[in-house]
Amino acid sequence: MNPVLAELHDKARAVLDPVHYDFFAGGVGDEVVLADNEAAFRRLALLPRVLRGNGISQDLPVLISPTAFHRLAHPDGELATARAAGGTTLVSSMASTVPIAEVVAAATGPVWFQLYVQPDMDVTEALVRRAERAGCAALVVTVDSPVFGRHRRDIAHGFHDLPAGLAAENMRDLAGVALRNIEMSPAVSWEHLDRLRDVTTLPLWVKGVLHPQDAVLAVGHGVAGVVVSNHGGRQLDLVPASLDALPAVVDAVAGRVPVVLDGGVRSGGDIALALALGASAVGIGRPVLWGLAADGEQGVRRVLDVLRDEYRHVLAMCGGELTRDMVVARC
Ligand code: FNR
Repeated sequence: MNPVLAELHDKARAVLDPVHYDFFAGGVGDEVVLADNEAAFRRLALLPRVLRGNGISQDLPVLISPTAFHRLAHPDGELATARAAGGTTLVSSMASTVPIAEVVAAATGPVWFQLYVQPDMDVTEALVRRAERAGCAALVVTVDSPVFGRHRRDIAHGFHDLPAGLAAENMRDLAGVALRNIEMSPAVSWEHLDRLRDVTTLPLWVKGVLHPQDAVLAVGHGVAGVVVSNHGGRQLDLVPASLDALPAVVDAVAGRVPVVLDGGVRSGGDIALALALGASAVGIGRPVLWGLAADGEQGVRRVLDVLRDEYRHVLAMCGGELTRDMVVARC
């Protein structure tokens, strides 16, 4: 891992309440998938192309993945994350501890709203309107959470509620209820996605697709993009590393919509591998939380700066282009 990211992680671990550190760091079950997300990158190597004479694109193909409860990491919470994002797209969690309108107001770049479809469609629609009014540019519907993942670290600590003074602010005053809990529902289906399509003109992404057939269905249901993700190893401890699931999804989607990967991305080299395997961009979860906990807005900025710098360097080494034929197994 890049030493700056390692330093921010160490500092975050030192300053956070261990219960909150474990909430951010932990995964589901034995945390097999959590570890494998990072290990999958180490199993691959890149064969650079030489003498291509390409310039290097200045873009950083990175999004900030939606993560809950930033005010557990830092008092400024999602406001600091939004300010630090700059031009990087921030996918703001429905479970943010700052209301989405304030997140968007603090951001200078695009903000997308992550949504868990609520079984009561009036509540879901009220959330969509809230995101629209705030100025969000897209909705990212997380589909890998029919039920909550069981996180042993949280269970061991007895952690299930936010401390007094913090709340999932987007859940206030929705459809006549002062503060709702976020519900997960195994009854949510493609029909709900179609209904969302009918109630909003915002581009709809789905996040948490691993099976190529689901990616095909998503395209058929008119999504603007697919995020290959296992929720950072927090939902089902049986699934592949998200990087290992990526190529089949990319093949199934066949260029019809962009495919983003998240899970285990910790360096510019990891970004390059994911792009070579066909991702249009990657999402970053925990490194942003470590930057935020360690040093607020400045810490998140450092995470993005380091990734940008490393990615450009790797891209230059690879001839400015990344294609699947350049990826080989590391033996
Ligand atoms: C998440 N993730 C997540 N995803 C989502 O759609 N809505 C959410 O509210 C959350 N909350 C959340 C909290 C915490 C503490 C973590 C670590 C993750 C999943 C997140 O968007 C992303 O898929 C993973 O974090 C990506 O993996 P890495 O980068 O953390 O390895």
